[in-house]
Amino acid sequence: MKIFLTGKLPDFALKELRKMHIVNVHTGKIPISRAKLLSGICNADGLVCFPFDSIDQDVIDSAIHLKAICTFSVGFDHIDVKYAKSKNIQIGYTPDVLTEATADLAFSLILDVTRRVTESDRIIRAGKWTKPYGAVEFVGTGLQSKTLGILGMGRIGQALAKRAAVFGMKTSYYNRHRLSNNVEKSLGVKYSSLSGLISKSDIISVHVPYTKDTHGMINAAFFKKMKKTAILINTARGKIVNQRDLTISLKRNQIGGAGLDVFESEPLQKGDPLTKLNNVVLSAHIGSSTVQTRDEMARLTIKNLNLGMAGKKPVHSVE
Ligand code: DGY
Repeated sequence: MKIFLTGKLPDFALKELRKMHIVNVHTGKIPISRAKLLSGICNADGLVCFPFDSIDQDVIDSAIHLKAICTFSVGFDHIDVKYAKSKNIQIGYTPDVLTEATADLAFSLILDVTRRVTESDRIIRAGKWTKPYGAVEFVGTGLQSKTLGILGMGRIGQALAKRAAVFGMKTSYYNRHRLSNNVEKSLGVKYSSLSGLISKSDIISVHVPYTKDTHGMINAAFFKKMKKTAILINTARGKIVNQRDLTISLKRNQIGGAGLDVFESEPLQKGDPLTKLNNVVLSAHIGSSTVQTRDEMARLTIKNLNLGMAGKKPVHSVE
């Protein structure tokens, strides 16, 4: 079978794929240009893509042999799922294996913003650390007894709740579907209305998928309802947050701070207004980026691809 990849996978995975298939990997500029995507995919039986590739109707139509689209991600908002399904194309994705890594990253952003780690790093690098130790310098916020509000209580939200419990935090969540009593109890979390979660949380962490309903749902009105000291963490998708409104709220200290791994447009450009603010920590869409997780994602992608190209359901199939 012929496979087209819009970017590299770890070496072992490419080696394995090359033993089984004719493999064509895009190695140029990322994201791949539209023209290169269309020409790369036109003879392919299988496609491996990434969250920044737009796999829309035109792309799908240009691939007349395509049997499987496998994204190297848990998010699949970049694929026209309905259209691909109407063409009997299987769609694979990589949930579960990245849950712990992403929850770790969300929690490290919480710790970083509340304890001002990156902020003090920036001060040291700029040669502005002038006083060795003081009662009122670099004072952060302890997490114990603070309220974490988890917006979207799927796998990653639940993994984050477990971490919060260890740190003595109280956790509320808002989700389309309420968890069972037993799961709520075992995680030690309380269900909340959306408005209650926004107004009562000390930290709000976003874990909803990106859809037309969640597009820009975190905006000026949302920030107005947050506590002035509250922190927003986003490791989900950038477009769930209105970045302009967030930048204004941070600038005016209408909220306490933010930890962001994802952005409306990636990579975030040099000089973006967010990069000028002290009360925000930025990371480069690295939620799932550990060696172990990326290797697991690659193994899963190969399995998804082989099953999908054989006309079977991938291990994790988007329905
Ligand atoms: C995903 O899997 O959707 C992540 O955003 C990639 O790290």
